Amino acid sequence: MTSDEPRDTLEAAKEALEGKGLTAGNIEAGRWLFAQPCDFVRGSTDIENLPPPGAPEVCFAGRSNVGKSSLVNALTGRNTLARTSNTPGRTQELNFFALGPKGYPALTLVDLPGYGYARETRSRVEQWTKLVMAYLQGRVALQRVLVLIDARHGLKDSDHEVMKLLDTTAVSYQVVLTKTDKLKAAEVGPRIEEVRQGIRRHVAAHPKVIATSSVKGEGIAELRAEIASLADPEAFRYKPRSE
Ligand code: GTP
Ligand code: MG
Repeated sequence: MTSDEPRDTLEAAKEALEGKGLTAGNIEAGRWLFAQPCDFVRGSTDIENLPPPGAPEVCFAGRSNVGKSSLVNALTGRNTLARTSNTPGRTQELNFFALGPKGYPALTLVDLPGYGYARETRSRVEQWTKLVMAYLQGRVALQRVLVLIDARHGLKDSDHEVMKLLDTTAVSYQVVLTKTDKLKAAEVGPRIEEVRQGIRRHVAAHPKVIATSSVKGEGIAELRAEIASLADPEAFRYKPRSE
């Protein structure tokens, strides 16, 4: 959602989100934060080559092709910030993006390479696990891992495996369904419920599941609000001095 959206749409979204326990303040914070500049910082293929930790970080994890890079683009309202593709395995490095008012990064978004691509070689899978797990276990700035699940397919074995690994780390994670536009409206609720049941055995999983479509914009305002609650609160007070 953008600030030039008609007023009644914004009001309707606010009411719907308030029903999900988010206040108008949360929603406004999310809208404001994601309207700020967002810049690519670095793509890291090596754990020794990460940017120095700064602002709080939120990363996007999930199977190959689930829509991680598309979700980064939808949240930031930019089509080409993160590179997307029909071919699984597009993102091969940890891509860092700084979000916030100019000169004050409020949050770092991290687009991760996907897992679970069936045609991947064993050594590539091991490489992914090593790099991503080293990042997840050792990153002090990391506030939350968003584990993306394709709404058409629900939880797969590889998702449970990754969540099991995450259960052993100290970082909290939250499930986000993607591509809800590919389901009939009546199928979305039951899929959310099924996933909610499926993650109950994972001790560190955030209980709230957010359903999104990067194509249709569903759930984007809600996810922005959720992520904004993890940003550096000082950034919201930051106003560049006028010349
Ligand atoms: P890897 O980097 O390869 O792990 O993939 P990824 O998870 O970053 O997926 P990406 O964003 O590249 O999207 C994969 C494909 O799914 C692309 O063809 C996107 O256009 C499509 N896609 C992503 N999000 C949505 C969505 O919400 N709805 C629909 N219909 N298609 C989507
Ligand atoms: Mg990607």
